[in-house]
Amino acid sequence: MKVTELYHLTGKTTIVTGGTGLFGKPISFALAEAGAHVIIASRNEESCKAVAQEIRQNGYQAEGAFLDLGDEKSILALVDKVTAMHNRIDILVNNAVSRENYKKLEETTAEDWETAQHINATGLMLINKAVVQQMVNQGKGSIVNIGSIQGAVGPNFEVYGSTGMTSPLNYTYDKWGMVGLTKWMANAYGKHNIRVNCISPGGYGPGIEASFGENEFTENYKRLTPLRRFVYDDDIKGPVVFLASEASAYITGHNLLVDGGWTSW
Ligand SMILES: NC(=O)c1ccc[n+]([C@@H]2O[C@H](COP(=O)([O-])OP(=O)(O)OC[C@H]3O[C@@H](n4cnc5c(N)ncnc54)[C@H](OP(=O)(O)O)[C@@H]3O)[C@@H](O)[C@H]2O)c1
Repeated sequence: MKVTELYHLTGKTTIVTGGTGLFGKPISFALAEAGAHVIIASRNEESCKAVAQEIRQNGYQAEGAFLDLGDEKSILALVDKVTAMHNRIDILVNNAVSRENYKKLEETTAEDWETAQHINATGLMLINKAVVQQMVNQGKGSIVNIGSIQGAVGPNFEVYGSTGMTSPLNYTYDKWGMVGLTKWMANAYGKHNIRVNCISPGGYGPGIEASFGENEFTENYKRLTPLRRFVYDDDIKGPVVFLASEASAYITGHNLLVDGGWTSW
């Protein structure tokens, strides 16, 4: 096969959770541009439909759908709906994240902790469980989990300087768990021709710049990153299409760091 064809996703039914978010939108566009039919799913169905319409206006295929990862019935309803309409689910991108009740450790209650885990751990397990069953039935599939550098190394708190910014324990815990889930699922479902990989990006530049502008944190972050910058849309688009497509047909259980070298030293 020609190498360009290996990256084609023509006709592939793809679910992107949280496909309206900072990384979710470029991820959804990337998969659609590669030829996939993208179902953008999260709690705000209207904004999912709006992003899907934007993708369609650019000449690609997408639709919006409701999904609450905190509610198993909603997960099963989405999987049933997509399977009924498209007969298959070729690709699942687990991109959604809940940052609810993220606090400093000394202020975190059990309830705060469980709020995030309910989405980021239980919801992640439930959607994987439901989708992988369909992938087993069809004999093929690719799952891409969106992790973070916080799931590859612990946070370097020095980077925040005197800004008062920090990174919560929940997030590091969830993102390390996601890498473990990736490897577990890759090992369990490889025999069904289902690949499970993770992408661990660094900080998303447009989001950070919109929230904080230039400050001590952004300066420190860039100085400590070998490529001297944050992640931008085009940096995530290639890796997600690579792992979703046949271009990575012999890669599973991998955690691809898209971090400008943050974890390389
Ligand atoms: N931003 C960064 O700098 C950064 C850096 C490294 C890695 N990442 C990773 O990239 C991924 C996306 O992060 P982001 O910053 O782009 O996120 P974001 O902009 O905050 O968007 C989060 C998305 O998750 C969805 N969501 C939240 N709770 C949900 C639920 N209960 N059910 C279904 N969907 C839910 C939201 O949609 P609704 O509100 O409509 O449900 C939203 O679309 C995450 O896995 C994150 O860990 C982000």
